[in-house]
Amino acid sequence: MRIIDQIREMRCWSEAGRRESNHIVLVPTMGFLHEGHLSLVREGRKRGDRLVVSVFVNPTQFALNEDYTAYPRDLERDRGLLEKEGVDVLFHPPVEKMFPKGSQTTVEVERLSPLLCGAFRLGHFRGVATVVLKLFNIVRPHVAIFGSKDYQQLQIIRRMVEDLNFDVEVVGSPIVRGKDGLAMSSRNAYLSQEERQAALSLSRSLRKAESLVRQGERESGRIIHAVRAEIEKGPLARVEYVSLCHPASLEKVEKIHDEALLALAVWIGKARLIDNTILKA
Ligand code: PAJ
Repeated sequence: MRIIDQIREMRCWSEAGRRESNHIVLVPTMGFLHEGHLSLVREGRKRGDRLVVSVFVNPTQFALNEDYTAYPRDLERDRGLLEKEGVDVLFHPPVEKMFPKGSQTTVEVERLSPLLCGAFRLGHFRGVATVVLKLFNIVRPHVAIFGSKDYQQLQIIRRMVEDLNFDVEVVGSPIVRGKDGLAMSSRNAYLSQEERQAALSLSRSLRKAESLVRQGERESGRIIHAVRAEIEKGPLARVEYVSLCHPASLEKVEKIHDEALLALAVWIGKARLIDNTILKA
């Protein structure tokens, strides 16, 4: 596996690959890899013949009061995991090369970004869209893989690619969970054993909503109430939002007609955790 930290070297590698008609796949990550990330890597392997994984903790998607500095990092471990998966390039650019002094251009996906997580993390999706577009411009992949754990992020990237006519196929991949149901996340590293136990209420509440819908419930208000109640049973969880919305526009829905996205964000101690499911009527 080649490790590239220079933007120019990454570009040259991709250009050479494209000249040889290689199909290049990119999996963007912020590292501290877990099985969720590795599922994207495996999906990527199937979808092309050259696989690039970027590991870059993007400062522009963290607000000043957020956990940019504390965000877990372990490049050596990531490198070992990616090597085992047969990744061709680990792209790990330095922050000052990705965002040199004086850079001022950003990408704003206007209507999707302020919804759901964007209402609580101001500027977050501007940072995400901008860094992903930069990674696309540097790596020039044919295919890019994203997890549906970050459902809103996936929709925003799809929208950006469509709106800006970017020539890349965006592939969404299912949520990977631990045996206990907790969605894998680098931020799970913040949880104590007791908090991890408390965090199981997130997936439990989603299963509860699915079961209500199976029993015929369609009203958003009642489903959201039940989900909140399930999470708030425990003393350690603080709900940031629970929302039922249209799976593409992410606008709130009052009732489930065909299908709806149930998305939530919950604080457990220092960890802000998100999870979601599609409810089908
Ligand atoms: P990060 O949180 O490291 O996640 C990288 C990718 O892994 C994202 O597409 C995310 O949705 C996916 N992922 C994380 N946990 C997952 C799980 N349990 N199951 C399936 N996929 C999972 O998301 C980011 O980084 C950044 O915002 C990034 C896109 C790299 C831009 O900086």
